[in-house]
Amino acid sequence: MQPLALLGCLVALSHCALASKVCPRPPEVLFATLNVDKKVYEVGEEVEYTCRPGFMPNSGQRKYTCLPTGKWPFNTLLCLPKRCPPPPPLQNGKMDFEEFQYQSTVTFSCDPGYNLVGSRTSQCMADGKWTGTLPQCQPVTCAPPSLPEFGVLSYRRLNPGNVSHFLDTILFECVPPLALIGNETATCTANGTWSSIPVCKVVTCPTPIGIENGFIEFAVRRTYHYNESVSFGCQPGYVMEGSKHSRCENTGNWSTKPACRAPCKIPAKKAVVLYNGEKKRVQNDLKDGIMHGETVSFFCKNKEKSCAYTVDVECVDGNFTLPACFKERGFFSSLVKKDPSDMKACEDEA
Ligand SMILES: *[C@@H]1O[C@H](CO)[C@@H](O)[C@H](O)[C@H]1NC(C)=O
Ligand SMILES: *[C@@H]1O[C@H](CO)[C@@H](O)[C@H](O)[C@H]1NC(C)=O
Ligand SMILES: *[C@@H]1O[C@H](CO)[C@@H](O)[C@H](O)[C@H]1NC(C)=O
Ligand SMILES: *[C@@H]1O[C@H](CO)[C@@H](O)[C@H](O)[C@H]1NC(C)=O
Ligand SMILES: *[C@@H]1O[C@H](CO)[C@@H](O)[C@H](O)[C@H]1NC(C)=O
Ligand SMILES: *[C@@H]1O[C@H](CO)[C@@H](O)[C@H](O)[C@H]1NC(C)=O
Repeated sequence: MQPLALLGCLVALSHCALASKVCPRPPEVLFATLNVDKKVYEVGEEVEYTCRPGFMPNSGQRKYTCLPTGKWPFNTLLCLPKRCPPPPPLQNGKMDFEEFQYQSTVTFSCDPGYNLVGSRTSQCMADGKWTGTLPQCQPVTCAPPSLPEFGVLSYRRLNPGNVSHFLDTILFECVPPLALIGNETATCTANGTWSSIPVCKVVTCPTPIGIENGFIEFAVRRTYHYNESVSFGCQPGYVMEGSKHSRCENTGNWSTKPACRAPCKIPAKKAVVLYNGEKKRVQNDLKDGIMHGETVSFFCKNKEKSCAYTVDVECVDGNFTLPACFKERGFFSSLVKKDPSDMKACEDEA
C-alpha cells in the first residue's frame, strides 16, 4: 500500500497530502481493550473501546473515528472499577476494608466470645458481587460443667435452651446440709470454659454464744450445721436491735447476732415532761424509766420572754442526759412560781 500511495503523490501533489494520511494505533486507555488492534488505521475507520471486566465506562466516548488529519479525536474515555454493595454489618464482629470496589478485600473478625463461621475474607468480583457467602459470628458455647459423680453439686441454667453460650450464667446448688464454698454463679467465658466451679463441704458452727442482756431461745448445746439458725430474746425492758435470728454461715461463723439495748432511768426527782404527747410526772408515771429509742420532752424557761419551750431527749442504750436548760425545782420555788410546763409556749423555740 505504501509504494502505491507514494506513486499517487507523484501524480498529484495536492491530493497526496490527504490520501496518504493514516492513523497510528489509538491511545491506550487504562482498564480498556480495543475491538481492532492494528498498527495503522485508515481515515474514517472506527474503533471501539470496551472496559475490562470489573470496570465500567464512567464518562467520555467509547467510539472514535480516524480523522483525515491522521489523528484520533481527543480520547475522553475513563474506565472505573465497579463497586460492590457494602456488606451488611456483621453482628458481634467487625469488617476491615479500604474500599468496596472491584478487587477490594474485606476482612471479617468477631468480638471476643464469638467464633467466625464462614470465610474470613471476601473479594469484590467483576460482576459487582462479593465472593462466597458472608460469614457470621456465633457465640462460643460452654459444655455442661463436669460435676462430681454423686451430685452433691448441681446447677441450674438461668437461660432457656440446653446449650450454654458466651455470657450465659448457671447457678450452682449443694444438697443440704452441705455448704457451697466458692462462687454460686458461673459465667460461660470467651474461651468456652466456666468462670468458676464451687465445691460442697460439710460446715459446722460452734455452740452459739449468748448475747449481753439477752438469751438464746430453745438452744441445745451442740454444734450446728450450715444454714441452721438460732433465735435470741432480750431481758424484760430491753429492746432488740438487729435480726432475731443468727444463721450458721458457710464460713463456720454465726451471722451477726442482735443486741439488747438498755432502758433509761430519768435522772430527775421531780419534773413534768411530755411523753407520747402527754404531760407526765416523772416521779409517778415514769419512775420505771423509758425504753431504748423512746423520747421525752423537757420544759425549759425563757426568763426574758417568760415563756417555756421543750427540748427532746432520747434514751440511747441506757444513756440519758438531762438538757442543760432544765432546772430541777426545789420545794420552795415550786410553791411560789409557776412550773415551766404551765407557762405559755414561746413562739419561736429559743
Ligand atoms: C436439647 O433438648 C432437646 C429436648 O430436650 C433435645 O431434643 C435436643 O437434642 C437437645 N439438644 C442438645 C444439643 O443437647
Ligand atoms: C461470681 O461470678 C460472677 C460471674 O459469673 C461475678 O460477676 C461475680 O462477681 C462473682 N462473685 C464473687 C463473689 O466473686
Ligand atoms: C479461659 O479464660 C479464663 C479467663 O477468662 C482463664 O482464666 C482461663 O485460663 C482460660 N482457659 C483456657 C483453657 O484458655
Ligand atoms: C437455708 O434455710 C432456709 C430455711 O431456713 C431456706 O429457705 C434456704 O433455702 C436455705 N439455704 C440454703 C443455701 O440451703
Ligand atoms: C469467721 O471465722 C474465722 C475463724 O474461723 C475468722 O478468721 C473470720 O474472720 C470470721 N469471718 C467473719 C466474717 O466473721
Ligand atoms: C453510754 O454511756 C457510756 C458510758 O457512760 C458510754 O461508754 C457509751 O458510749 C454511751 N453510749 C451511747 C450510745 O452513747
